[in-house]
Amino acid sequence: MEAIILGIESSCDDTSAAVLRGTTMLSNVIASQAVHVKYGGVIPELASRAHQQNIVPVIDTALKEAGITADQLDAIAFTRGPGLLGSLLVGVSFTKGLSLAKNIPMVEVNHLQGHILSHLIDLPNESLPHPKFPFLCLLVSGGHTQLVKVTSPLEFEIVGSTIDDAAGEAFDKCAKVMGLPYPGGPVIDRLAHEGDAEKFRFAKPQVDDFDYSFSGLKTSFLYFLRDRMEENPNFIEENKADLCASLQKTIIDILLKKLVKAAKALNINEIAIAGGVSANSGLREAIEAEGRRRHWNTYLPPLKFTTDNAAMIAVAGYYHYLNGEESTLDVAPVARLEELL
Ligand code: KG4
Ligand code: ZN
Repeated sequence: MEAIILGIESSCDDTSAAVLRGTTMLSNVIASQAVHVKYGGVIPELASRAHQQNIVPVIDTALKEAGITADQLDAIAFTRGPGLLGSLLVGVSFTKGLSLAKNIPMVEVNHLQGHILSHLIDLPNESLPHPKFPFLCLLVSGGHTQLVKVTSPLEFEIVGSTIDDAAGEAFDKCAKVMGLPYPGGPVIDRLAHEGDAEKFRFAKPQVDDFDYSFSGLKTSFLYFLRDRMEENPNFIEENKADLCASLQKTIIDILLKKLVKAAKALNINEIAIAGGVSANSGLREAIEAEGRRRHWNTYLPPLKFTTDNAAMIAVAGYYHYLNGEESTLDVAPVARLEELL
């Protein structure tokens, strides 16, 4: 019998629980927190409180939808980090309680590894393509931007990463400057469809190796808008779609340049993307077009697995569980990736 795993994700502003049998997803429930929208960003204290309210009903629903009782679980996989400490603490504490009460082993998961391994999730009635090892994954989330060589479900090598902001941050911060709601990524994506991506040009960073930088783009975007608004106070309003399309194209160009460079250097043609920004329709199209040109096999995660979800935590936990890994009750959440490695 395949192991039954409950996954719990609470690293940022989504409370999620999922049940997997082996790598097959039986349920994946996500409660998103609307409370942050009016502040234009995630407020950590409000996020922790919302997780506390959501976690029991979300887990309950995930078990019910899967037709599984807590006693049938073989392991509980939880996000240990990176993320917001208070938010993580809710998931970690709940996991400890359930593990102790039901005598079920708990398995810690690195949130970023979860995003990457979302490519290994199977659905009961639909076959999803899985990248073959070794594959190269462009991981683009709200907090991280990395190029990761994945040799097996548990063997990773970060070959490049951002030296400052993440791609998701570039989307969110530039959206904020334009007065768009949080999170800005999906809004820019939608508006970009109606805009001219060639209308405005923004400076692209010069960074060594396979690393990224996005803070310069954010700053130059800010100064560009400030200058234009001095001449015409309606500039943003009149050019919103073109600004979104041009900004999005710049971010995609930056992301692809290093992806191509790394794929060539590592001689890998199995190429995947993961993380919240991998929902971006322009990025998805651009990766596929680049793939056709370069004879890559490209893997785009289904949209429901791009942003934070517990199914990806459960699948990562499943592989750690198979490997005999188990966390002890003294495990504490960690905010930063460096503390996990
Ligand atoms: O992976 P994720 O859900 O959370 C983190 O682990 O950070 O990523 C959230 C990020 C946000 O920055 C959000 O703006 C971005 O993903 N995002 C998008 C899109 N959907 C979500 N960015 C661009 N286009 C989208 N369609
Ligand atoms: Zn994430």
